[in-house]
Amino acid sequence: MIIRNIGELVGIVPEGVLRKQGAGMAETGVLKDAWLAVGDGRIAGFGPMGTEPSDGESVDAEGGMVMPAFCDSHTHVVYAGSRDGEFLDKINGLSYEEIAARGGGILNSSDLLHETSEDELFRQALVRVREMMAKGTGALEIKSGYGLNPEDELKMLRVIRRIRESVPALVKSTFLGAHAVGRGYTHEGYVQAVVDMMPKAAELADFVDVFCDEGFFTVDDTDRILTAGAACGLRPKIHANELAVSGGVQVGVKHGALSVDHLERTTDAEIEALRGSATMPTMLPGSSFFLGIPFGRAKEFIADGLGVALASDSNPGSSPSGDMRFVMALGCIRMRLTPVQALNAVTLNSAYAMGVSDVTGSVTPGKRADLILTHPGWTLTKIPYLYQTPFIRQVFLGGQVLV
Ligand code: NIG
Ligand code: FE
Repeated sequence: MIIRNIGELVGIVPEGVLRKQGAGMAETGVLKDAWLAVGDGRIAGFGPMGTEPSDGESVDAEGGMVMPAFCDSHTHVVYAGSRDGEFLDKINGLSYEEIAARGGGILNSSDLLHETSEDELFRQALVRVREMMAKGTGALEIKSGYGLNPEDELKMLRVIRRIRESVPALVKSTFLGAHAVGRGYTHEGYVQAVVDMMPKAAELADFVDVFCDEGFFTVDDTDRILTAGAACGLRPKIHANELAVSGGVQVGVKHGALSVDHLERTTDAEIEALRGSATMPTMLPGSSFFLGIPFGRAKEFIADGLGVALASDSNPGSSPSGDMRFVMALGCIRMRLTPVQALNAVTLNSAYAMGVSDVTGSVTPGKRADLILTHPGWTLTKIPYLYQTPFIRQVFLGGQVLV
């Protein structure tokens, strides 16, 4: 298949570039008046109009833009029901911590999940994932963490596997047993239970995560859990520095985390710890927006030479949206990233943060054809600027057209 008459093909990255950092965040390859060929679900080639192959089925882009599909490296889309009751508490002035302290929050979702059958959990999550794909997400990571006991954590991980097998998007799975202390456990007892769950979880999960933050898990707990994860071959991607300067970034980097996520509260020591590491700092502007907490200091990280990824954190408590276009818009509007920096943050760098930037996240020959074709007249800058106007004409995932 050939997409012809592309007004602007953006997100072109040379083969072998797996992430963008520092000044590189401001760069993306752009080709105007272009074609792009797809074969076997992969990007077969691209070039200026006039040089396109003449055979095969063709789609006329009519001047629309083609960009890489979004990669969402941090989500909690497998959950049961909703927490709209807590939304009312929040409107009435309670903070995320206060809601959690009253038995709401993560434990509320854990109770709901316990009562929900595996099939029903799958059905509810699939609706959310389909909405995200229709909004342009081509790869997503999904975490456990609302089970909080061995049976229910494995139930979540099986649901994530079933989603992976059911959708054309690329899905990665993370064991977040240490999301909150499960009901009926002491803190110590639960940390041990998470360590004990690791071998079974590792049969289903790609990564291990810990909510290393004030009121949840300490640096020492995190150290123990990540050590157990490493023994089972699980690389960390962790929650850090959302509620306090927690030490989570440092312990994550020490364990070679693929990403450290949230980072609403950081000092120069966190930048220092990340410098020269393989860890991708990942910020979640949807939860800053929804909770009314600080946005991450992305510009300062980038000025220091680091890369930044952005993800949705889609979950019922702190970010009830998996809309990556809105994440990109918040990156520009609230974090002052340029549209090109934000594009790199929601495509190549977020692909890196979930370990898939060798196969998706950019327009690169040989990568999966995970692409967004916009309506005519759209440019990269208009995507965050006209932040609520529908812009997607078609989404291609693995070359398949999503209808
Ligand atoms: O990433 N911060 C911890 N976990 C989620 C929130 C989960 C919830 O409230 O259900 C987050 O924001
Ligand atoms: Fe999260």
